[in-house]
Amino acid sequence: MKNIVILISGSGSNMAAIVRAAEREQWARRFNARVVAVISNKADAAGVALAQSQGLATAVVPHSDYASREAFDAALADAVDAHAPALVVLAGFMRILTPWFVARYQGRLLNIHPSLLPAFPGLHTHRRAIEAGCRIAGVTVHQVTTELDHGPILAQAAVPVLPDDTPDSLAARVLAQEHRVYPQAIANWLGETE
Ligand code: GAR
Repeated sequence: MKNIVILISGSGSNMAAIVRAAEREQWARRFNARVVAVISNKADAAGVALAQSQGLATAVVPHSDYASREAFDAALADAVDAHAPALVVLAGFMRILTPWFVARYQGRLLNIHPSLLPAFPGLHTHRRAIEAGCRIAGVTVHQVTTELDHGPILAQAAVPVLPDDTPDSLAARVLAQEHRVYPQAIANWLGETE
């Protein structure tokens, strides 16, 4: 069985979309894969309660408990490795990972970023896209490499930026696409690594 571990920091809507797709599309039968655990760096992340309500194993590794990025990443890797993952999925996980962590899961560590990379890596992507006068915005699913929000692109989707958009209204339009493309990209990855 290919175990999938999902890392979150917030509301977990991408995590929930992935879990829904895994059931609807029968990933267990088709790819011998299942989502086994959700791990958060924040105890109060709404996604933790959401995952529990879905019957998923959850763990919290609070980054504030660790003196350095290296110490946090070592504890995070322990929590991840407890589930023997074939694939580690970052779904709104808002911590920069050390090269050591990235190397440990190289080729099986995916991220979703709410912009059309390589445009707008980092934070506040929707505000920056509006301020730059972009007519389209979107989302990127990519393999994680040591360079933040870079790495081979697996999937993208574009949405229009409308004249009266606010960062929130644009974020909502992009998020709807995230919920579609992330499960699709993961299913493709699972299909290709059989
Ligand atoms: C999503 O929009 C995701 O693309 C973004 O955080 C949000 C998490 O929402 N990720 C990043 O900005 C990573 N750089 P969710 O918790 O509801 O899935």
